[in-house]
Order: sequence, then structure tokens, then C-alpha cells
Amino acid sequence: MKHFLTLSDLSAADLRALLDAAHARKTARAGRPKGAPDDDAALAGHTLAMIFEKSSTRTRFSFEQAMRQLGGSAIVATADQMQLGRGEPVKDTARVLSRYVDAVLLRVNSHDTLAEFAEHATVPIVNGLSDYNHPCQIVADLMTLEERGLTLEGARLAWIGDGNNVAMSFVNAAALAGYTLVVASPKGYRLPEADVARAREAGAAIEIVDDPDAAAAGADALVTDCFVSMGDLDYEERVAALSPFALDEDRLAKAATGATVLHCLPAYRGQEITDGVIEGPQSAVWDEAENRLHAQKAILSWCLMD
Ligand code: CP
Ligand code: NVA
Repeated sequence: MKHFLTLSDLSAADLRALLDAAHARKTARAGRPKGAPDDDAALAGHTLAMIFEKSSTRTRFSFEQAMRQLGGSAIVATADQMQLGRGEPVKDTARVLSRYVDAVLLRVNSHDTLAEFAEHATVPIVNGLSDYNHPCQIVADLMTLEERGLTLEGARLAWIGDGNNVAMSFVNAAALAGYTLVVASPKGYRLPEADVARAREAGAAIEIVDDPDAAAAGADALVTDCFVSMGDLDYEERVAALSPFALDEDRLAKAATGATVLHCLPAYRGQEITDGVIEGPQSAVWDEAENRLHAQKAILSWCLMD
């Protein structure tokens, strides 16, 4: 049984297979109505349950549509619509849902909830975002960079902004994909040192710098995310500390010629990214959002079929 909880659980071959499958699935259904099944209907008869403790647009809609395109179906609930929200133990919910569905996706406040659910489930569990990481997002992001012609091995990716859950998944994928990750975050909002050290031990090339312009310099891709993630309570302090790390036109100009801009969305224009950058020619954010759908299908097939 294969869970999809963190990219550091995967091998380089696993990640390559996921990216290849995502590209192939996208190409194969070009021009088809979005609700029509793929020719292979790979997950016909399968059902995915999705549980959300936090808001979602992309993850919620792309996973449901992914199951439809794979020939299966999805059941969605927020945690507070379930007995989970009234205190039913996570482990009981995991065991019961495992009797009804073939896989469960969770978006959770605490990564510990996901780990506990996976420990007691008897079907694959997919991480639809936790406070610790967001692995599905990074499969789509890497797919998007490849679509733009970038070879990940040896590429230079810059993460500029909060050292958050999405940044952590870029850390976790670095050794697998072979890119160098340069991270610039202000004091107090940096990635946990222990996780960076563990990734380096696994072979990741990660540079931590103080200066966001130094991170941007010569980068093949500039990546950022909101300054205030779901569950963050220190809004004013965060925005004040992170504002000098905003992605604007001057910073983008320091990157390699034709560098790609990624943002997982939702974006807060004028905060972490300017309107000119996100709407500009180097922004790949709409392809990135679309690619969530294709990447999710690769992930679900990997969990349930391979
Ligand atoms: N990027 C992403 O996961 O978006 P949602 O929060 O809308 O799912
Ligand atoms: N870092 C953001 C990502 C949203 C997709 C959050 O956790 O809210």
C-alpha cells in the first residue's frame, strides 16, 4: 500500500514516473471535454474520500475532477460536517472510511493528524496539504517547469518568502529531481534547520541566503507563496517581516533570462507578488494551477495501481 504523505518518502524514480505520467495524461486528453473519462479509465470503480479541515479551491476541484477523468468518483466533506469535527477519534475515522473507499485525501491543520490517519487506514492516504508540507503541489510545479523547457537536473530554483509548507516540499523534492534550491526568508520565517539538514544528508543541494536579490540572481525559476498561510495568526508581524521579500519586476529582472515564475495560489497581489509579475509573460501560474489536475491523476494512479 502506497501513501503519498511527503516527497521525502519517494525515490527519484518514483518522482520521475509521476512526472512522466502527468505529462502523458495531459497530452492524451487534449481537447476533450473536461468531465470525459480518459481512454484507459484507469481507476474505474474506485472512490476517493476527501476530508478538508481548511479551505481549498484547486485541491478540492482538481482531485474530484481527476477521479472523474480516471473513471472513478469522489466523496467530499469538511471535517466539521463529520463526526471528526465533534471529536470522533482520527484512528476510528481512518478505519471506518477504509471500509467504504479506495483512498482518502486529507487537508489538515496538523501533519500529525495525517500521520495518525495513515497509520490506521488500510487504504492509501494522500496529503492534500498540511502545516508541514504540500507534496501534490510540487509535482504540478515541477511538471510546469518541465513544460516550459527546463531540465530539473542542475536547474537553479529560488524560493523567496515564507519558509512554509510549500517551501518544505521543494526541499523534500530537491534530491530526487536534482535541482539546486536557493531559499531566502527573513529571520523568524525560515525553514526548520533540522529538515534542511536531513534533506542535505539525502543529497539535496540547498542554499539558504539572507538576501532575496541574491536568491533571485541567475535563477531559472522564482517561486513564492502567500505571506500568511491558513492557520497563521500573526498577520501583521508576518507581512511586515516578509514585505522586503516580495516578488516584483526588479527582482525578477535579476533572474536568468526567461526565468519562470510560479505561485501555488491563492495569490495576494501587492503583498508577496506584484500584479505585473503574476500577470506578466514569465508567469506560469495558470498552467501550474491546471497541472494540479494532471499531476493529481498521476499521484492517484501511483497510489492505487502501480
Ligand atoms: N494551491 C492550492 O493548494 O490551492 P487550494 O488551497 O485552493 O487547494
Ligand atoms: N502556504 C499556503 C498554501 C495554500 C495552498 C497555506 O498553507 O495556506
